[in-house]
Amino acid sequence: MDSFIIEGGTPLKGIVQVSGSKNAALPILMAAIAVDSRVTYTNVPDLRDIHTTIKLLNLLGRPAVLKDGTVEVENGELGIEAPYDLVKTMRASVLCLGPLLARKGEALVSLPGGCAIGARPVDQHLSALEKMGAQFDLKNGYIHGHCPTGLKGAKLQFDFPTVGGTENVLMAACLARGESVLENCAREPEIVDLADFLVQCGAQIEGQGSSVIRVQGVDSLHGCRYRIMPDRIEAGTFLIAAAVTGGELLLRDCPVNAMDAVLGKLREAGMSIEERADGVLARTGGDGLLGVDISTQPHPGFPTDMQSQFMVLMCCAQGSGLVQENIFENRFMHVQELVRMGADIRISGSSAMVRGGRTLTGAPVMASDLRAGAALVLAGLAAQGTTRVQRVYHVDRGYEHLVEKLAAVGAQIARVKDVD
Ligand code: EPZ
Repeated sequence: MDSFIIEGGTPLKGIVQVSGSKNAALPILMAAIAVDSRVTYTNVPDLRDIHTTIKLLNLLGRPAVLKDGTVEVENGELGIEAPYDLVKTMRASVLCLGPLLARKGEALVSLPGGCAIGARPVDQHLSALEKMGAQFDLKNGYIHGHCPTGLKGAKLQFDFPTVGGTENVLMAACLARGESVLENCAREPEIVDLADFLVQCGAQIEGQGSSVIRVQGVDSLHGCRYRIMPDRIEAGTFLIAAAVTGGELLLRDCPVNAMDAVLGKLREAGMSIEERADGVLARTGGDGLLGVDISTQPHPGFPTDMQSQFMVLMCCAQGSGLVQENIFENRFMHVQELVRMGADIRISGSSAMVRGGRTLTGAPVMASDLRAGAALVLAGLAAQGTTRVQRVYHVDRGYEHLVEKLAAVGAQIARVKDVD
């Protein structure tokens, strides 16, 4: 396993290129399963999860290759199985369920286990697809789905705005017979990106980005060339890196239109964030950082994927901030690691009170999940002394070339091999 060694205290200065979005690329690559000819994707980030998705596409009979940010997915005879050994490394593999049922009328997908941040069931995915005529047997750790007479359009409502559930059902509805009306959908920008891709492949979709999406099923979807949207969570992480190191970063390709809640809270916390023609310029404002409260919500609310990073900002602010986590039941695993670095954070149920004004000190810490790991990197950059972040394979899932990007703007950071 690899670790990051970070010597904190250096203000970051320079230009950062925001990569393509992991959470847009994963469903959009999976959507190639629903398309009956070659697809070319650009601005695809070089991440562990992308490589896993490409492996799954190859296993399913869709030869795919990533080269210099471009993925070509060739046509091929589709299989139906997403095996356990692959799904256990990436929950998002379950996003092949909807497109497989739509194209093949059958799917055998390993039931995605939970992960560090929560149980993460897929009951909403299954109940919605059942309303479209799919039948599921859950046994031996697999979801065996089939719809012998093909999927039919339906009017359905999600119990709550599930991102993956909306994506799975949206992809299935594109090839179902008749109209589907999906209510209480998630509104994340990555869902809009997925819908825009599907429309370019010939799908008939309206309402993406709102809570009601209407889909007129079509007989088939054709290939196209598509650029993945920039990653709003990577961008938000770098904005906070500028603030906690007292530096100044210019972010290129920063998707500001997808970041209202984050930009609003960063500005409320005292950051100066200037949207310019050549990018977004971020630094701490003259009055320093101030404690503010956040409450994670489905989009357009404050994203849960920015919660742990924002907590580090609060550690470096004057005053205190209350962090309320409403989406996942166990997304505070970074807290104890931050406390070991000198943070004053007290958890009470699904909220954590962060008291700032403390100097973080370097320490050996361990990443438990992707965004917790990102938070520990931010803390290491802000801390006095040396921080060793272990198990950075979590971070490699969602941050393309993170060490290189940070080092290029002055961070003292290196990747080292752990002696197992
Ligand atoms: C997506 O996960 C993202 N992953 C997550 O990003 C993100 O945190 C999450 O959306 C919320 O924004 C990808 O896009 C690949 P959900 P997803 O379905 O689709 C519960 C990251 O760090 N739920 O909106 O799994 C679930 O347990 C990752 O990049 C059910 O109970 O999120 C969770 O508590 C982490 N039943 C909540 O809903 C279901 O059928 C939100 O889940 C589905 C979900």
